[in-house]
Amino acid sequence: MIGEPHDDEIQVEALDDQLGGPRLRGTVIARHNAEDLYDALASDLIVHSANCVRQFGDFHLALSGGRTPFPLYERLMYDPRFRILPWRRTHLWIVDERCVPFESELSNFSRIKEVIVDHSDIPPEQVHPMLANTPESADRYERELRDTLGWRPKGHDRLDFVLLGMGLDGHTASIFPGSPALHGSDRLVMDVAAPTTSAPAVPRCTLTMQMLNASRFVAPFIMGADKASILQRVANGATPDELPIAGLRPVAGELRWFLDAAACGHS
Ligand code: 6PG
Repeated sequence: MIGEPHDDEIQVEALDDQLGGPRLRGTVIARHNAEDLYDALASDLIVHSANCVRQFGDFHLALSGGRTPFPLYERLMYDPRFRILPWRRTHLWIVDERCVPFESELSNFSRIKEVIVDHSDIPPEQVHPMLANTPESADRYERELRDTLGWRPKGHDRLDFVLLGMGLDGHTASIFPGSPALHGSDRLVMDVAAPTTSAPAVPRCTLTMQMLNASRFVAPFIMGADKASILQRVANGATPDELPIAGLRPVAGELRWFLDAAACGHS
């Protein structure tokens, strides 16, 4: 399921003609306004989900918390163009979770459940919340990933589409600067300490960088002027220890950044 990334497998950047953006590894999809960006991302999601269902019979999607993706999640549920997403064939995973009860407003899963799960026909056994409030959370989620993805043919036993955000300290999922979840472990999921660089300061559980990089399609989705200088530092070669999101290098998958004009440094 996991392996070391190879630089020569990384695609050369191709920037959207309409709007210059940071020259990041992979492909940058930049759009002037939020609506167009949601459309671009949702359209890719529809194409990838249909391809995976055709090829494997199912689709493994991992979603992030944070503020940025929720308007997109809502759009997926109410826009008729995107209602065709094959939820009945989808397994829904979470990239990270805070060590709080599900009822807490800090729980990523409870918000995702409210917006997506409760309004889709996804079978309950295909919904995989991360129970981050117990000492063995990471072990359990890792077992669930291995057991579920293990039904896939070898080499295809990975997440199909991972939607990520980025914090102002460069974290993605709950992989913070200097995190043990960044480097060469065989772990797919790890419990991590409460971050000192980002709120809320509660311990987390997160997919590791290895797991993210094993995925078929990795989509960092980043909006807002406050993120522009961080993305520029990533483009300028910051290390993953400094800015964890710089560690994204899918081994045999596609890396596609979805950025609005503000995140590209345009006012
Ligand atoms: C979380 C996330 C985290 C998030 C970033 C960006 O649970 O908080 O998974 O990695 O995506 O912190 O958050 P915003 O979208 O709120 O800026």
